[in-house]
Amino acid sequence: MFGSTEIPLDPYFPNILLALCASSIVESFSDMKIDPNNDQKIIDSWHKNAAPWIVAIQKHQIESRRLVTDRSIIDAVVSRDGKTVLDLGCGEGWLTRELVARGMDVLGTDIVPELIEQARTFDDGRFKLASYQEIAAGKLSEKFDVVVANFSLIGDESVNDLFQSIPSLLNPHGTFIVQTLHPTITTGDLPYVDAWRQSSWAGFSEDFTDPSPWYFRTVARWIELYISHGLAIVEVREPVNPQTGKPAAAIFIGVSY
Ligand SMILES: C[S@@+](CC[C@H](N)C(=O)[O-])C[C@H]1O[C@@H](n2cnc3c(N)ncnc32)[C@H](O)[C@@H]1O
Repeated sequence: MFGSTEIPLDPYFPNILLALCASSIVESFSDMKIDPNNDQKIIDSWHKNAAPWIVAIQKHQIESRRLVTDRSIIDAVVSRDGKTVLDLGCGEGWLTRELVARGMDVLGTDIVPELIEQARTFDDGRFKLASYQEIAAGKLSEKFDVVVANFSLIGDESVNDLFQSIPSLLNPHGTFIVQTLHPTITTGDLPYVDAWRQSSWAGFSEDFTDPSPWYFRTVARWIELYISHGLAIVEVREPVNPQTGKPAAAIFIGVSY
């Protein structure tokens, strides 16, 4: 398990990890043939890594989350003053629990049964096993004041498909909030273009295996995704890591109209 070394960052932070860990497995796929199964590899990886992920989250072992990004996503959701929330890719459900504690009615969804089972061991929140693909195909019949995705939009097609369904999941003037690693930081020395990249579990417990590819998007691409799906961007937040002085994440806040 984890030693005394702090775990610095989320897994989808390859270039920072490269600098910190001198890991040579980190690479960009931008010049390589794109594997059409990359979205499936993401899902396979989360199935394999559910158990160590539960430990990492519930023992607060990811420093950037502890220092800044947990608070920043809670604040972003609270700022919208919604009563009902959908937590997409909720993992073991920590954010759902935090929002329920603030008086909201929250549904958490994820594709990994082990994570949903773990989330249900707490009394707070409702949880449903559902992939983005199933949600895009209409699996959820409810509408919400706020839909939030915290570091959970990792793929290419799966995310594009999900975006199409967001307006139908929102009440009138509802809000869609995405927190993602800050593109201008995560791009590192690689070209600042949308591309598949390889992540790494470097710095995490040895219990983690099979890191998946992830799809890097520029800031402009995230904004375009919102606008092209009928969502007006009303705010972009850039929570700063107090230790590095650099943005730890970008938070996009868009409203349906
Ligand atoms: C980095 S974790 C974030 C979990 C949680 N949002 C949090 O803040 O701890 C990414 C989550 O996205 C989920 N996920 C990835 N691809 C998915 C898909 N296609 N459908 C549903 N969930 C997915 C994974 O199972 C995992 O729980």
